[in-house]
Amino acid sequence: MDKIYSFEFLTTLFNEMAGSYDRVNYLTSFGFSHRFRRQFIDRAELHTGHAVCDLMCGRGESWQFILKRIGPQGQLVALDLSPGMFDGARQRLTRYGQHAVSVVEGNALATGLPAASMDRVLVAFGLKTLAPELRSALASELYRILRPGGVVSAIEMSEPRAWMLRPLFMWYLKQVVPILGALLLGNPANYRMLGIYTERFQGCGPVAGEMIQAGFEAQLVSYFHGCATGVVARKPLENRDCSKDTGFIQPVHDAVMRGVVDGLHVGLLATYPAPSVH
Ligand SMILES: C[S@@+](CC[C@H](N)C(=O)[O-])C[C@H]1O[C@@H](n2cnc3c(N)ncnc32)[C@H](O)[C@@H]1O
Repeated sequence: MDKIYSFEFLTTLFNEMAGSYDRVNYLTSFGFSHRFRRQFIDRAELHTGHAVCDLMCGRGESWQFILKRIGPQGQLVALDLSPGMFDGARQRLTRYGQHAVSVVEGNALATGLPAASMDRVLVAFGLKTLAPELRSALASELYRILRPGGVVSAIEMSEPRAWMLRPLFMWYLKQVVPILGALLLGNPANYRMLGIYTERFQGCGPVAGEMIQAGFEAQLVSYFHGCATGVVARKPLENRDCSKDTGFIQPVHDAVMRGVVDGLHVGLLATYPAPSVH
């Protein structure tokens, strides 16, 4: 595995970023990070009382949107590998005294959460630093911890496909963000890494493919002209392996695995017939 995806490298990277992450993230995205979080959480269809896992939670940047939707009756488990990041999340806990929130140090690939214990799992901007060969392990873990009918919604920064937007976006991410990161008291080398991960990541298509392989019904989603992409996936109510289905699902699954994601920048790649949410 490339060293930049190793647990040690990521822990150091995010520990170092923890102090400046919130402000750099918000200001360099012109507030889009906020808007993206709200949009991808809306797609998860959270309801009052839901048990939700915020996987790779960072400093709890998504909590204001999650907790508003699940209310004090809901339960939020937030997990991250970086002590620096989840220390920030622990500090944020004090703002939400009336809610049931627990912050756990751990690995998204082996959460330690009980099987079928979560109604929803949310993954905000944590996919790009996961080694491609570990995506299937993540999909299996998500499948394991979700209840039947449960939904995972994930979002990640991605290279937009539009020929005019792509070079501008990548130039901004790789050249300008590190400078702004330094001005906002972060380490520019760390913020440069985010551009490198995003360039390698190439969108959520292959992740959606792994989710289907794991048994999910999945949709690929585009946010703001493909500057971010996402996956919304549902664990079927009864146990079945969607990757073995014939008809509609298999061709779309094959296309996603081949990286045929041309429709991505205009929106949804594919919608699978989804059972109703409980
Ligand atoms: C770019 S930050 C995103 C934080 C937050 N979710 C947000 O919306 O801004 C990625 C986070 O994922 C965490 N992370 C990366 N790989 C992980 C893994 N395998 N297990 C748990 N956390 C991980 C990092 O520590 C970091 O806090």
